[in-house]
Amino acid sequence: MHKPVLLTEVIAALQPRSGGIYIDGTVGAGGHAAATLEASAPDGQLYGLDQDESALVLVGERLSDFGDRVHLLHANFDRLHQHQIPPADGILLDLGVSSMQFDQPERGFSFQADGPLDMRMDPSAAETAADLINHLPEGDLADLIYRYGEERQSRRIARAIVQDRPFEQTQDLADLIARVVGFKPRRGGRQKPKIHPATRTFQALRIAVNDELGALERVLPQAIAQLAPGGRLAIISFHSLEDRIVKKYFQQEARDCICPPEQPICTCRHKATIHIITKKPITPSLAEITENPRARSAKLRVVESIGK
Ligand SMILES: C[S@@+](CC[C@H](N)C(=O)[O-])C[C@H]1O[C@@H](n2cnc3c(N)ncnc32)[C@H](O)[C@@H]1O
Repeated sequence: MHKPVLLTEVIAALQPRSGGIYIDGTVGAGGHAAATLEASAPDGQLYGLDQDESALVLVGERLSDFGDRVHLLHANFDRLHQHQIPPADGILLDLGVSSMQFDQPERGFSFQADGPLDMRMDPSAAETAADLINHLPEGDLADLIYRYGEERQSRRIARAIVQDRPFEQTQDLADLIARVVGFKPRRGGRQKPKIHPATRTFQALRIAVNDELGALERVLPQAIAQLAPGGRLAIISFHSLEDRIVKKYFQQEARDCICPPEQPICTCRHKATIHIITKKPITPSLAEITENPRARSAKLRVVESIGK
């Protein structure tokens, strides 16, 4: 079962209450959703979105005790505004994949177990990781691995992939990258264990297959517009690319004028729509990281709607 990350902190941030409307844009296994429903008993409503239909089947069973307080939608959160959900008192986005998705080899997210190079969170989407690996020109593949994986050896990896393709299985790709980049796992001693050399390339492919950064950029204005006055938006990100997008957008929306600093007079007429609640992102405690290593890179940022 997926362990919800920063659960206490998310509930403290959203302050669910009876009669409130809550949106979980990444409902997954429903850990955050169940806690939100409990805290907003007896009549808070929860709208749970997920682009993975199989997650919705499981979460529907898990949340069945909450009856008609739960509304599940098979949808990408980047089309939040299309669902006619009432103004929300709290919205959560807990980005990325769930442990359930990661731990199923047939979904192709992990190189620890062999599976097809798929990586689609929404299995009805068109393009798989194998499509990108086997068809992108070498330069585009290198750019993708560099941009979304922040992988400095992206050119070497892309060249080797293009020479050896087609690839269909995660293990074959991970082995090739380990050969190209070289991998000596560190055991014992005080040094931190080295991450597997395929980690960054797999992250890059997953981000590209699911257009994760595009979806995040598209949902931010919709989520803020969806908040009731005083409503809060909480976002948990897992890598610097996501966190940078969230932080910059929040900073921009919290300002009255977004004209370039060298411009003496404001012409943008931009008005702040939110207050930033977390000046610095909230990160998990050592105890949480020990219990759930997946939490180690999590960052939670929270804003509140000014509601003009
Ligand atoms: C980290 S898990 C969420 C776990 C959840 N908070 C819990 O407590 O179980 C992320 C979930 O969001 C879904 N997801 C990721 N990006 C999405 C998007 N753009 N639209 C809708 N669902 C998305 C994934 O399919 C996955 O089930």
